[in-house]
Amino acid sequence: MFVAKLRIMGGKLLEGEIEVKGSKNAALPILASSLLFKEKIQIQNLPEIEDVQRINELLDAFNLTGKIDKKIANRLRASILLAGPALARFGQVEFPHPGGCLIGTRPIDVFLEGWRAMGAEIKLLGRAPEEYIISALRGLSGSDYTFKIPSVTGTEALMMSAVLAKGTTLLKNAALEPEIKYLADFLNAGGAGISGAGTPTIKIEGRPGELLKCTAPFAVPPDRIEAGSFAILGALCGKNLRIKNFIAEELPTFLALLSNVGAEYILEGNALIFKNAYKKTLRASNVTTKEFPGFPTDLQAPFTTLLTQAEGQSLVHETIFEGRLNYIEDLNRMGAEITLCDPHRAIVRGPVKLTGRGLESPDIRAGLAFIIAGIIADGETNIGNIYQIDRGYERIDERLRVLGTDIKRV
Ligand code: EPZ
Repeated sequence: MFVAKLRIMGGKLLEGEIEVKGSKNAALPILASSLLFKEKIQIQNLPEIEDVQRINELLDAFNLTGKIDKKIANRLRASILLAGPALARFGQVEFPHPGGCLIGTRPIDVFLEGWRAMGAEIKLLGRAPEEYIISALRGLSGSDYTFKIPSVTGTEALMMSAVLAKGTTLLKNAALEPEIKYLADFLNAGGAGISGAGTPTIKIEGRPGELLKCTAPFAVPPDRIEAGSFAILGALCGKNLRIKNFIAEELPTFLALLSNVGAEYILEGNALIFKNAYKKTLRASNVTTKEFPGFPTDLQAPFTTLLTQAEGQSLVHETIFEGRLNYIEDLNRMGAEITLCDPHRAIVRGPVKLTGRGLESPDIRAGLAFIIAGIIADGETNIGNIYQIDRGYERIDERLRVLGTDIKRV
């Protein structure tokens, strides 16, 4: 069976212009929310990535069978985003524990506690993976619910459930990521009554039975994580690189750290420009991932790759996921000097020369970190399991080749 790999010859500099595509993590909940609408929804600027195709397959299957397909659900965390609107609209939903990036245990307890708070009953059907039946045959009731930990998809799923619940719901200690506000804006444009999205307390005026209506096409905003990933490449090997659709206010801490390591860039509106950045010696910097507006956990792996080129010792502290330093051994096999202190902390010493080798992409963002490592390494790097990369980055090899990278899908 033919297994595609990405083959990279390191040492090239980047020149030209690249446009950031639509946001995966904004698009997925918006597509899932289509179950709350009376008719079709019109979404523009969808990224052509595997996860968008999977969500559309899940929705097609759901519209046919009323069930969330287990095999597909096991491939992406966002599959759980169908459960919220489905439960609210049909009073019952059966779904498997979602799969997706292997970056930690990925529990769903805050979802289940939230649905219980809204009056739903939860039955565990089977194990490995767990399957659940959630019922609220008399409909969901508004609730005052506090997240014990801010959860991005937890906030999105419960916000969607609350849209059709009887009465008012308050979601406290809600996630603050920009994707929450984009989803709320889309639902409100369809007739929902949501206020406070983007703040720790979101209020939803539920309107049972009043399905939403999409009155105008909605454009998916640019993907801030793709934008940050390209900025890291720019800082490392940008000769004359222009990144378009870069929304600086969505990456405040990331940009502060990019400056802290001494990367030179120019911000011109929604364009981030790197001129001869490759010549600049970078200096070590500590980085701690945090919920928005902190440093995004999705940029941790790509940024750690940059830190292998920075002078001195950097501490990487991944506070969100306990399994998200899983790629570090592979970087060390390329010549990096990273000490894994515990599941959440690593110390990076630099600068070191990286040498290309064979790698397997463990998840979306570590996959991109390996692409960055391959581009700055000596020699040839082959990356397998690139489905993981295609899940979150549209035609990444073609777009980087246009900038001068020696990368091809073999
Ligand atoms: C979303 O995942 C993103 N995925 C992730 O991006 C991102 O890394 C993450 O948010 C954090 O920003 C999508 O939006 C589709 P969480 P999500 O629930 O919602 C714990 C990528 O590469 N938690 O905010 O699953 C959890 O274990 C992906 O694009 C519970 O304890 O993340 C974690 O420690 C990877 N119980 C913390 O909360 C729960 O019920 C934050 O997770 C749910 C979460």
